[in-house]
Amino acid sequence: MKSSKAELYVKKIRNGTVIDHISAGYALDVLKILNITGKEGNTVGVVMNVPSKQLGKKDIVKIEGGELKPEYVDKIALIAPKATINIVREYDVVEKKKVSLPRTIKGIIKCGNPSCISNYNEPVSVIFHVQQEEPLRLRCHYCNRTMEKKDILSQF
Ligand code: CTP
Ligand code: ZN
Repeated sequence: MKSSKAELYVKKIRNGTVIDHISAGYALDVLKILNITGKEGNTVGVVMNVPSKQLGKKDIVKIEGGELKPEYVDKIALIAPKATINIVREYDVVEKKKVSLPRTIKGIIKCGNPSCISNYNEPVSVIFHVQQEEPLRLRCHYCNRTMEKKDILSQF
């Protein structure tokens, strides 16, 4: 197990999930996506704007005692496309998964255009095409409305 400068800020966890390589400044948004408020009682470590070889700067979130549900992975990919999800058991990383942003996003976010067909009660599932990964820009399949990171964050 390698050690990094970030260890100086938050110690290793015993069992749980470490979300590493989060785009700098987005750790609190990741917590919001995961519905972690701090009231749940488990230990959560948050590190923001630490140096990273890959990204220049990055954020890290460490959640003691919880393993991330797969349904959250795509949501995290939207705001932190370079994130790595590490599952830790008895101090060892037993699983490491890089999030990846699919070319099309289905059913996770709503279209910001109130007159878009996807906002009616039609059996139409919301589809967005990823036009640009960073900064994020999505285009609605039905009405072509473009959505940016801030529009998406306001839905979580
Ligand atoms: N980590 C932790 N507690 C542990 C094990 C790991 O908090 N018991 C954290 C590390 O601090 C690091 C992340 O989980 O932020 C991934 O750990 P590891 O795979 O050991 O680090 P690297 O090899 O540097 O990861 P990568 O190659 O993904 O950058
Ligand atoms: Zn639309």
